[in-house]
Amino acid sequence: MIKNNWGIRILVTGFFLTSPVVLAEHFNGHVDVKVGALSESAQKGQLAFNRTCSECHGDNGEGSLKGPPLIHAIYNPGHHSNQSFYSAVRNGVQQHHWPYGDMPAQKGISFSEMSVILKFVREVQQQNGIVRLDHEM
Ligand code: HEC
Repeated sequence: MIKNNWGIRILVTGFFLTSPVVLAEHFNGHVDVKVGALSESAQKGQLAFNRTCSECHGDNGEGSLKGPPLIHAIYNPGHHSNQSFYSAVRNGVQQHHWPYGDMPAQKGISFSEMSVILKFVREVQQQNGIVRLDHEM
């Protein structure tokens, strides 16, 4: 009995020790996003993004407790091409870069909405100093 008790204590202590680490990782990935003047298509994209994607990716792609920021260097066009955005929305994404879990496919987004969302993400990336870097992985 006493032994089991300790097992539980160790589990509980372990939980409290590891959860701040996960939170710290999130806040490292979370960014302050500036949004300047946007083209007409990007403005439409911003509406669609903040309606559908912001639930996890935060307002204007700044990240949230449920998903990573997309206004982030790893999503520069050299590392995550437009094709990878279409594929993420159509097929979903398995967790691989972050500790948030998988992204489900976003069935409600049409191809034309997806292209204005991309205009929006790329324009805001540029406004926040995210430049194309060639893929080296
Ligand atoms: C229910 C939460 C959720 C929603 C809604 C969501 N995403 Fe995601 N998305 C995620 C998570 C979590 C990841 C990170 C997966 C990883 O790399 O670990 C991700 C990753 C991505 C990626 C990177 C794909 C890759 O190849 O690594 C793109 C692009 C993306 N999301 C775009 C979008 C767009 C655009 C929308 C809105 C149409 C959207 N997401 C809606 C949770 C979500």
